[in-house]
Amino acid sequence: MKIAILGGTGNIGKGFALRWGQKHDMIIGSRNAEKAEKFAAEYRDILKRQGYNANITGSDNKNATEEAEIVVIAIRYNQLRSLIDLITPVIGKQIFISVVVPMEKNLCYISPNAEPRTIPITSDQFNADYFCFTMPEAGSATQEIENMLPAGTELASAFHTVPAKKLADLELELDYDIGVCANSEYSKKVVFGLIKDISRMRPLDTGPLEAAAMLESLTPLIINVAARNKMKDISIKFI
Ligand SMILES: NC(=O)c1ccc[n+]([C@@H]2O[C@H](COP(=O)([O-])OP(=O)(O)OC[C@H]3O[C@@H](n4cnc5c(N)ncnc54)[C@H](OP(=O)(O)O)[C@@H]3O)[C@@H](O)[C@H]2O)c1
Repeated sequence: MKIAILGGTGNIGKGFALRWGQKHDMIIGSRNAEKAEKFAAEYRDILKRQGYNANITGSDNKNATEEAEIVVIAIRYNQLRSLIDLITPVIGKQIFISVVVPMEKNLCYISPNAEPRTIPITSDQFNADYFCFTMPEAGSATQEIENMLPAGTELASAFHTVPAKKLADLELELDYDIGVCANSEYSKKVVFGLIKDISRMRPLDTGPLEAAAMLESLTPLIINVAARNKMKDISIKFI
């Protein structure tokens, strides 16, 4: 399959490129095509040292979207609007996957329309930052993306609980459960396949796209647990 990673030069993008680049054609998307090509060359080199002759190219985000069958949205929540506006003219039959988590450090909202409350970290015995899920009006970043995309666009939500550092470390097998929700059974099935392509990852069906809020909100929880319990880059497993 031809997979584009929008924001593929970033933390989580690297891991996807290295894992899926072993089997699929990858297009690293960036706001800057030259930067994308530079990162694509770096990822190819890493995989070459592991014995893979990977087909990883770099392009700007719009071209990457146009060329791909699967498009992973791997940028930060507050950058979504401009990216979706940019790629909308070239959206057709691609399946989109959002890994986006709307969260803030030390700033929480009781509801999307409420005044935010700053969390005073100095009173915390661990003196660690506290991450909050900042629920968008649509319920989740994924549902907000669905509202921005042309009607009928295939969209799934997954991978929110995967730590970027471990995804990019090819020495590691990732015995994680990956919750997936989607707006069609077809896109869910395709994402299940992509999860199974990563050694030991297990896809789990979490329901329709409306489940995205629950999936996305797991990330700040995991980060808070890690920070307060001297754990690093943890994920989840249902047992
Ligand atoms: N990091 C993790 O462990 C992790 C795990 C699960 C999910 N996620 C989610 O994945 C997403 C990306 O996280 P990340 O840590 O990979 O982020 P990141 O490294 O900070 O950024 C990813 C890429 O976003 C692009 N970017 C920056 N500003 C932009 C803008 N204004 N418009 C469009 N693109 C812009 C940059 O690429 P160019 O400069 O090349 O355009 C950058 O390389 C987030 O939504 C995060 O919640 C992250």
